[in-house]
Amino acid sequence: EKGKYKYFMLKEIYEQPKTILDTLRGRLLIPEKIIYIDGIESNKDIFINAKCITIVACGTSWHASLIGEYLLEELTRIRVEVEYASEFRYRNPIVGKKDIVIVISQSGETADTLAALKLAKKKGAFVFGICNVVGSSIARNVDAGAYTHAGPEISVASTKAFTAQITVLVLLALIIGKYRSTINDRCYEFLCKELGSIPGKVDYALKTDDTIKKISQVYHNANHFLYLGRGINFPVALEGALKLKEISYIHAEGYPAAEMKHGPIALVDENMPVFVIATKKGYYNKIIGNIQEIKARKGKIIAIVNEGDIQVNMLADHVIKIPNISEILSPLITVIPLQLFAYQIAYIRGKNVDQPRNLAKSVTVE
Ligand code: F6R
Repeated sequence: EKGKYKYFMLKEIYEQPKTILDTLRGRLLIPEKIIYIDGIESNKDIFINAKCITIVACGTSWHASLIGEYLLEELTRIRVEVEYASEFRYRNPIVGKKDIVIVISQSGETADTLAALKLAKKKGAFVFGICNVVGSSIARNVDAGAYTHAGPEISVASTKAFTAQITVLVLLALIIGKYRSTINDRCYEFLCKELGSIPGKVDYALKTDDTIKKISQVYHNANHFLYLGRGINFPVALEGALKLKEISYIHAEGYPAAEMKHGPIALVDENMPVFVIATKKGYYNKIIGNIQEIKARKGKIIAIVNEGDIQVNMLADHVIKIPNISEILSPLITVIPLQLFAYQIAYIRGKNVDQPRNLAKSVTVE
């Protein structure tokens, strides 16, 4: 039940410290410095020897897949391709006997993802699933897998399933990286510790809600939004834009910040609010340059920054402060204010947050 929350979406956003912890539980053993996932352990050699991994999904799960690409390539040095399931299944994809295909799906029932899975299996690939719904069609059809322990997600807009998917992908990248010796022990141990701190930091990031409510009051009448991020936070920008579109029906687009000058900056004027993920770690100076370009065209900047940030703080129209964390784990924190923002805007606009028009929770038709 919704309890004190008006909508399931808000409840599910607030559940994330717990759902991430549940997804880590029994898998990340910090004192022992061990990560254990059964489906990986029993297929160790396949992962150690992989030349290429293809990840297939739709929607929000596709955004998690893009984050998975950054994580896996960085920590395991295996080449990763990410595909929309609907495209993969109709284009005679190049996957063969020794290849790994990872399918990601909250519901485990998405028709295109299920069809992509079956095609990959037919071509002889080893298919690994990341699903939330136990016993779902996708979970039953994969060769091995790891569940996200997010619990039932009722709201059509996916939130806690997304962070649980990223959590599993981080665990996956860390174990495979350790097997393949593509990460050194110090880095591995450090990231394990950082990962253990994530639930607490998500809890802290949820405290941005009051600031976000105020910012939402300023922008709830806007017709368009841009979301910018770089590196591993580029897919987070895509996800922020998708959340806003889905539940508030405001047009929004996500872009890698440096792509702005190749076209989309033409859209920027005083009526264009621009969300920028500007955390201190990755590409910070580059992001500052991107912010200046938007300011010069009178765009309004809403920036997600780390506690203690000075430079972006001075440039932006609004800042949302989140706790510091390693760049590679940052999507688990940076997405929180974007989820809250989409919710607050839809709420102010009086939309049915949990059941947006034209959308269904699980898309079982193609
Ligand atoms: C977005 C959303 C959809 C789903 C997509 C895939 O908030 O809910 O984009 O992510 O339909 O669904 P699953 O993960 O169930 O395969």
